[in-house]
Amino acid sequence: MSPLTVADYRALARTRLDDRTWDYVEGGSDGERTLADCAAAFDRYRLRPRVLVDVSTCDTATTVLGARLAAPLGVAPTAYHQLVHPDGELATAAGAGQAGTLFVVSIFASRSIEDIATVATGPLWLQLYWLRRRDVLAELAGRAEAAGYGALVLTVDTPRLGKRVRDLRNGFAIDPAVSAANLDPALMTLTYGGRSGSSALAEHVQATFDASVTWADLAWLRSVTRLPILLKGVLTAEDARLAMEHGAAGVVVSNHGGRQLDAAVPGLCALPEIVAAVAGTGVVVFDGGVRRGTDVFTALALGADAVLLGRPALWALAAGGATAVTDLFALLRAELSGTMALAGRPRLTDIDATAVMRSEARRRLD
Ligand SMILES: Cc1cc2nc3c(=O)[nH]c(=O)nc-3n(C[C@H](O)[C@H](O)[C@H](O)COP(=O)(O)O)c2cc1C
Repeated sequence: MSPLTVADYRALARTRLDDRTWDYVEGGSDGERTLADCAAAFDRYRLRPRVLVDVSTCDTATTVLGARLAAPLGVAPTAYHQLVHPDGELATAAGAGQAGTLFVVSIFASRSIEDIATVATGPLWLQLYWLRRRDVLAELAGRAEAAGYGALVLTVDTPRLGKRVRDLRNGFAIDPAVSAANLDPALMTLTYGGRSGSSALAEHVQATFDASVTWADLAWLRSVTRLPILLKGVLTAEDARLAMEHGAAGVVVSNHGGRQLDAAVPGLCALPEIVAAVAGTGVVVFDGGVRRGTDVFTALALGADAVLLGRPALWALAAGGATAVTDLFALLRAELSGTMALAGRPRLTDIDATAVMRSEARRRLD
């Protein structure tokens, strides 16, 4: 039977991936508390359905920073898609575009951003980490603009890598057959050197990321691009306000899927204060633990303009390449539409704070 839920894609992916790759995709940092909280946070909310509303048509289409989407959904940036499927980001781009879904391409994509743009039929944004090599960042920003990417997403929660215990135990390193296609191989040598008890990725980050950057440095990034810049990894109203003061086009409320600061607040709990701080002056995108249409609905009700999914996109990619990525996002869109109908909110603008309430019921079945 074809997958009926996002969790079905996870089960399929488990059968396709080796243990080390599975741990890399699934894992969080330290005690994986924030990872667990990402999913659990949705269970603290329940929906407040309205009845006798005309829901004969439910419209999920939206536009986010000029990106026209069939639903407020996107693929979160995740590194090295070739780890889970030979076509890597080319399949993700083709599949996401077919579903009218945004694709945020990671700086560590295993296909070139130009090749991805060639096969893409939907909107693309490019995610960056702040490398010590600013010339590399400026070059990537220029290439993204030339290739038609619509925005840059600067991830700001990774001055160093979180302590990912599964990767340490596995001595995780990137298979040399899979490369960071957009970066000079000389920058990437550390990612290939696996040793039990150490993570090649952590060592690479320590050596190549600039942990000294501050708010004042954002002016430089803005000076090398005309693209709007979103900051990903914002979890407080204070930082959301600073982001807007420093010229960001918006923020991605995210704890990196529980892979960076463990015990960090679940993004869903931070969302209302960030939406209030941004106050309509920029876009607010959310990621972390979104697994159902009701989760998408809840994040929208708390003020998100769109949500991104990280691991589920990789599960679908592993399970069935581009077609499965399309099907995954079609499934989520259908679940969102179904939720809108049963909740009596046929337009996205109807999904406001009155559509949800905090609840004591916390049981989750998957
Ligand atoms: C395997 C994997 C690789 C990731 N790589 C990146 C990355 O290169 N850049 C980035 O900003 N976030 C990265 N993330 C974090 C995701 O963008 C996103 O914040 C997170 O996966 C959302 O949670 P979810 O997986 O529950 O949907 C990665 C996450 C995973 C699981």
